[in-house]
Amino acid sequence: MHAPFDLTMEEEGEIVAGEDGDGGLSNLFERNKVWAERKTRSDPSFFRRLVGQQTPRYFWIGCSDSRVPATEIVDLDPGEMFVHRNVANLASASDLSFSAALQFAVDVLQVRHVIVVGHYGCGGISAAISGRANGKIGCWLNPVRKLCCSLSHSSSNDVLDPNILCELNVVAQVEALVLNPTIGAAWARQADLTLHGWVYGIGDGLLRSVCDPVTPLGRSEAVSSPKAQTNDSALF
Ligand code: CO
Repeated sequence: MHAPFDLTMEEEGEIVAGEDGDGGLSNLFERNKVWAERKTRSDPSFFRRLVGQQTPRYFWIGCSDSRVPATEIVDLDPGEMFVHRNVANLASASDLSFSAALQFAVDVLQVRHVIVVGHYGCGGISAAISGRANGKIGCWLNPVRKLCCSLSHSSSNDVLDPNILCELNVVAQVEALVLNPTIGAAWARQADLTLHGWVYGIGDGLLRSVCDPVTPLGRSEAVSSPKAQTNDSALF
């Protein structure tokens, strides 16, 4: 079993057999059926309403980590939040997949809030610090690695705290969003759109804000530094 931060594994296509012999896949269909029935029981028109449209107010940019399921941790239903996830929650304008999702969220869905959400204990952040990630994941984490190196050079500490890098990475992604052409164009047409940077604690299930929300009026101000992890007033 690989440690969560060990992203150097070479093997691909490894299938872990479950008790039912298909890796637990049939179990997912069963669970889906039960979930759909439960939803319909509590709200008979739930799925019919979603067929015609989606009107989410939020665009969530989060990590792919299985412990940070976006809609579940903010207790939202399908249809209420547009989501893009990748390793270490990067908001890179050069990433076509992310850029397309951002454009759709802002221009078509006209979300009101774009939220970058990192999480403590992030394997991508740990891999960037260790410098052990190779292959595609090493390439993907290069911006985080660069951020890590720039901080290491300006700090007297030998080893950067992964949770601090996690917070600073979120701030860096919010800063990148401020400069993103899609966001700039939305603000130029007076769209009501605010950027946020949060971090999720896997150990307590709580979200914390790590920088002040950024609005069109506040875009000339620098994105503020992360607040202390222990600052309870920063709890979302
Ligand atoms: Co992560």
